[in-house]
Amino acid sequence: MMSRRFSSRFRQASLAVVAIALLVAASAHAADTSAARQLERFSTASGAPGDAERGRLFFTSRHGGEWSCASCHRDAPLTAGKHAKTGKTIDPIAPVANAAAFTDTARVDKWFRRNCKDVLGRECSAGEKADVLAYLLGLGR
Ligand code: HEC
Repeated sequence: MMSRRFSSRFRQASLAVVAIALLVAASAHAADTSAARQLERFSTASGAPGDAERGRLFFTSRHGGEWSCASCHRDAPLTAGKHAKTGKTIDPIAPVANAAAFTDTARVDKWFRRNCKDVLGRECSAGEKADVLAYLLGLGR
């Protein structure tokens, strides 16, 4: 009967639509911004452009505590990092090596807040964030 064949085709097609929708939802993880726009955001907030060399020093130095940013993200953040305490793998933080880095404003804010507290015992200033972004955006170019 033709209706049977039709309905199984139809079912296949709708499964494909669902699979595509799931893939899109999974890969999108709310990409609402870009690393360049985040650099712009923090530069504007601090009133000065980010400085890549200052960002490099900031990223690789300790600030009175046990860890630097590089303790988890590595000195060359082009490669995957490793959590200094748990050993868990961390995606590369340099945009050139990780297209998803700095593409989700809420995620950027959440991790800056958490990691700056761990490393500096306070939140990073807008100027420090602009410097870090200038440094990371400059890598691999
Ligand atoms: C104790 C380990 C640790 C330290 C130290 C650390 N981070 Fe992180 N950071 C993480 C983890 C874990 C993530 C989440 C990455 C993932 O899911 O793969 C992250 C993510 C981030 C993100 C989000 C990037 C994105 O995907 O958009 C930013 C920004 C960030 N860290 C900045 C910093 C800065 C700046 C410092 C230094 C002040 C720092 N981190 C120090 C563990 C650390």
